[in-house]
Amino acid sequence: MKFNLPLPPLSRLVQKAELTRLSHTFLHVPQLHWIVVEDAPQPTPLVTDFLAASGLTYAHLHKLTPKDRKLQEGDPSWLKPRGAEQRNEGLHWLREMGAAAEGKEAAALEEAVVYFADDDNTYSLQLFEEIRYTYRVSVWPVGLVGGMKFERPVVEDGKVVRFHTGWHPNRPFPIDMAGFAVSLRLILTNPQARFDGDAQMGFLESSFLQHLVTMDDLEPKADLCSKVLVWHTRTEKPKMKREDALQKQGLGSDPDVEV
Ligand code: UGA
Ligand code: MN
Repeated sequence: MKFNLPLPPLSRLVQKAELTRLSHTFLHVPQLHWIVVEDAPQPTPLVTDFLAASGLTYAHLHKLTPKDRKLQEGDPSWLKPRGAEQRNEGLHWLREMGAAAEGKEAAALEEAVVYFADDDNTYSLQLFEEIRYTYRVSVWPVGLVGGMKFERPVVEDGKVVRFHTGWHPNRPFPIDMAGFAVSLRLILTNPQARFDGDAQMGFLESSFLQHLVTMDDLEPKADLCSKVLVWHTRTEKPKMKREDALQKQGLGSDPDVEV
């Protein structure tokens, strides 16, 4: 007999490790509100419990990437954009909160800045100090990205005039997700701005930013874009060869231990 059991939400094996590292960075940042958007059909116990114990102020949202938009085993990582649906969910939540806010709360939101932090990057604490003073969109270099030591906006006379990048420099904003932050005010006053999950490879960031600013508006940070304060590090997928082999003999790791 065949049962059609719903599959358990398949999270990445490195999820808790990534969240642990990221939360330990965020714990050092004053006035940070973490919006976590899980790629899951409902919030999972792992992330729910993790956040409750994290010591951070957070919102826990979820948005499942539809199967046809998700990378499949063996696909090259550039084939489909990652995290677009989740970031749009975060934007939606911010806009609902913005619409509901009144008085002091609304005034506080005027000052807020939004940064889209991949869970696997490496963040210097100095970056968050730079981000704090964003009026529209601020930008800075990103290390170890795009097949380069770093990519960065090129600044002349205090203005961004072009981008140092090795790949498709004619994109409207040839800049990694880790290389910019946006004032919440700008997000709230431009409700049409969102990430286009169908954007051509490398155009995800541009699909959002082009609703908000022109190159002329960009605010260069990190000493006029001369310092690398964030690195596009990526986590290696752990090999499960031994685990799989042991599981076949009924000797797999105890499933009750959360990893
Ligand atoms: C680069 C950029 O740094 C990403 O911000 C951008 O989304 C991505 O390219 C892209 O254009 O698709 P990369 O390191 O290749 O990043 O992407 P990941 O770190 O694997 O994913 C970006 C974010 O999406 C992560 O926070 C990850 O947890 C999340 N993600 C990834 C999902 O929510 N669902 C997935 O199925 C995969
Ligand atoms: Mn990443």
